Amino acid sequence: VLRLTSRPAPGFGGRFRPPGDKSITHRAYLFGAMHAAPITIEHANPGADCQSSLACVRALGARVGSNVVHGVGSGLTDPGRVLDCGNSGTTLRVLAGILAGQTFTSTLAGDESLNRRPVGRIVEPLRAMGAQVHAAADDRLPPLTVRGGALRGIEHRVPVASAQVLSCVLLAGLFARGTTTVEIPGPARDHTERMLGALGVPLTIEQLPGGGRRVSVDGPHALDAQPRSWRIPGDFSSAAFFLSVAAGIPGSRVTASEVGLNPTRTGLLDVLERMGAQVTRRLLREELGEPVGEVTVEGTSNLRAVDVSAADLPRWIDEVPAWIAAAAVARGRSRISGAGELRVKESDRISAIANGLQAIGIAVRETPDGLEIEGGRPVGGKVDARGDHRIAMAFATMGLLARDPIQVDDVAAIETSFPEFADVFTDLGGEVTFEEGDAA
Ligand code: S3P
Repeated sequence: VLRLTSRPAPGFGGRFRPPGDKSITHRAYLFGAMHAAPITIEHANPGADCQSSLACVRALGARVGSNVVHGVGSGLTDPGRVLDCGNSGTTLRVLAGILAGQTFTSTLAGDESLNRRPVGRIVEPLRAMGAQVHAAADDRLPPLTVRGGALRGIEHRVPVASAQVLSCVLLAGLFARGTTTVEIPGPARDHTERMLGALGVPLTIEQLPGGGRRVSVDGPHALDAQPRSWRIPGDFSSAAFFLSVAAGIPGSRVTASEVGLNPTRTGLLDVLERMGAQVTRRLLREELGEPVGEVTVEGTSNLRAVDVSAADLPRWIDEVPAWIAAAAVARGRSRISGAGELRVKESDRISAIANGLQAIGIAVRETPDGLEIEGGRPVGGKVDARGDHRIAMAFATMGLLARDPIQVDDVAAIETSFPEFADVFTDLGGEVTFEEGDAA
């Protein structure tokens, strides 16, 4: 397995530009396939997950140039083979909504990790719309087979605040007769709505008390055929690793430039502020209906522990691994609860974080839906990233805070979202080396 070792590095800090946003890049590729004119995409996320989306849209008939997707319009081409979604949950769950509107049968499958992640949450609404959908393990896990056809609009309440599920049903709604309404119970990312808006699709969006929302679309609705040029904002989730660790290094100052600052993504900044870090956001412009700017985090020796509420968690669900760097050195016990979704990400992140923190000398208690972290001083040690990119990057940055080096095993998945991670880490003054080692 690929292993990394990271060490404390005095003077860590500076400015960097994160890769293009992974969530928005997926959508640009998938929507591009359904759009009958070329879409030029700049600063796409280069990771393997988005390459999975790109390979799928190619198999479905889109022509793909170096940074252009020439889509086929509403009727995609039968791929004639299984669509391989790799490690990417967004590819599988969002694409399934588009496939539900096609007349051919298609099968979506993933790698070992993706094939363990829940799909029942999309099977149910797609079936209610009239698609024939089957999944493994009693319709709970991939592979997923979708036979589309004449869909009808439905009203669907998603039990979890999942942007992937909302996106899946909304996209199926573009192919359905009548109105499709989806409701989510919390403030999950809204890139799909913003991008559909940028493509001229009329949506009705109602914000609900408690942070959820209800989104409706009238179908069928074909995307127009205007050529477009999109510039993908920088990925806040990638930037988060360096911003969060900076909060815990007194005197350190890290700036992410050209980064997406969509409020449904930046909940981590609010948490770091509550912990006592100095956070400065500067909004510069909009791209694709998304706010873009720069953000600076300055570290302090007086970081305070926080108790974080479940209600706001969808705004930083992917940043919980990054956040543990700050929590591990904060004064007091930080608590996170209502975070059961973390158990069904690329790994069981609650368990991976708890084991990892323990291994580097931080006291932690795992609960069924959360964590309690006792701030202190990481000693160093060996951590298993369990093939999860965000766990790997989180513990890599923690090496900056520890007394001794931190060794992280099974880190090859960093490639899925942030292939330049080590370069940026090194540019900011960090010290990280890689080697092939035996599995722990
Ligand atoms: C994503 C939505 C979130 C997030 C994932 C990307 C998206 O998943 O964790 O990394 O691009 O829509 P859920 O929709 O399962 O919460």
